[in-house]
Amino acid sequence: MTTSMRIGVVGCGNISKTYFELSKLFKGIEVTACADINPEAAKAAAEKYHVKAMEPAKLIKSKDVDIVLNLTVPDQHFAISLAAVKAGKHVYSEKPLTLSLKDGLKLRDAAAEKGVKVCCAPDTFMGGAHQRARKAIDEGAVGRITGGTAYVMGFGMEHWHPNPDFFFKPGGGPILDMGPYYITDLINLIGPVRRVAALTSMAQQERTISSQPRAGEKIAVETPTNVLALLEFANGATVTLSASWDVWAHRHANLELYGTEGSLYIPDPNFFGGDVLATARNGKPQPLSHWDHPLGVANQQHQENHFANYRSAGLADLAAAVHANRDARCSIDRALHTVEVMTGALKSGADGKFVEMKTTCTQPAPLGVEEAKALLR
Ligand SMILES: NC(=O)c1ccc[n+]([C@@H]2O[C@H](COP(=O)([O-])OP(=O)(O)OC[C@H]3O[C@@H](n4cnc5c(N)ncnc54)[C@H](O)[C@@H]3O)[C@@H](O)[C@H]2O)c1
Repeated sequence: MTTSMRIGVVGCGNISKTYFELSKLFKGIEVTACADINPEAAKAAAEKYHVKAMEPAKLIKSKDVDIVLNLTVPDQHFAISLAAVKAGKHVYSEKPLTLSLKDGLKLRDAAAEKGVKVCCAPDTFMGGAHQRARKAIDEGAVGRITGGTAYVMGFGMEHWHPNPDFFFKPGGGPILDMGPYYITDLINLIGPVRRVAALTSMAQQERTISSQPRAGEKIAVETPTNVLALLEFANGATVTLSASWDVWAHRHANLELYGTEGSLYIPDPNFFGGDVLATARNGKPQPLSHWDHPLGVANQQHQENHFANYRSAGLADLAAAVHANRDARCSIDRALHTVEVMTGALKSGADGKFVEMKTTCTQPAPLGVEEAKALLR
């Protein structure tokens, strides 16, 4: 029996509650400390979750922390993760890993030098639905995947997030914010990308916050809010990815993959669960046979919806990977490749040219039922 790895949270904002609460579902990890640039936020979280509040620089260097969980805003991810790596800590970061490929490469080099692991969200691809789709593809249920469509479109974040500024600044925008869920799942399902092209645009130069407590304040938009990308995968598959915050309503499905023998309809990669449907040639869509994957079981209620949320699964997998000296499913190679795909789409939008990927990665190991059970308490 190994002891739990001690997790120090840096960034006690909106998403931290999810990690403080859901990490308790998993073996091998225990949140023991937290920090924030705003000491009041750290103090409030420390009191609520019975952990130690510290200053960020002290937490990063603390001998009582094994993994730094970086939940700061995107433009702080690189600096915090690099400082943690230099202090000899393993890191699990919220997405995106970094805002540029250059920074991501520096982080990977630093981690290799220190012999520590860096991982990055999302871990939703480890959910029951996406693992069911992976199993179907691996078993050849719809033949060889040759194409697909991915749509993540809505009207923005200024209507719900209390501090939505970062979403509209460089490093935010729908491709860097929501793209990771889709691109990471596509890597899980069909592997790495060879090249990308995109058109980008911005419907409004300014957004008005309607959420509390800052309703009425304006945000200057400094990054595209509409990205229409074409991805060519190393296996030859071609996928359309549309990520937008300029769309009030649409009828496109989240994710569909087309194979030589049929199609797969995959639920929203921002969530762990849901039904995967498959069609045979000329067939009607049918749900894939049920399997008892523990990371697909609904465990949360939001308004009418009952859904599966196991954020922290990737963090638990990192801890298990450190103990077993194996590749973690959310490892930096895949996160770095995801950053290159996303920033490549933005670059293509600006330059009007295809961008060839310089990085690549392997598909993560599938997460079967027994391995998923082993991560849970
Ligand atoms: N909110 C969500 O539902 C959600 C969901 C999935 C992923 N994420 C990701 O999680 C990250 C955080 O999002 P959020 O919504 O919690 O943002 P947030 O603004 O609510 O919280 C970020 C926190 O980090 C702190 N912080 C900023 N810079 C810091 C620094 N240098 N050192 C220490 N603390 C610092 C801020 O004071 C704040 O408390 C983002 O990368 C986002 O993409 C958020």
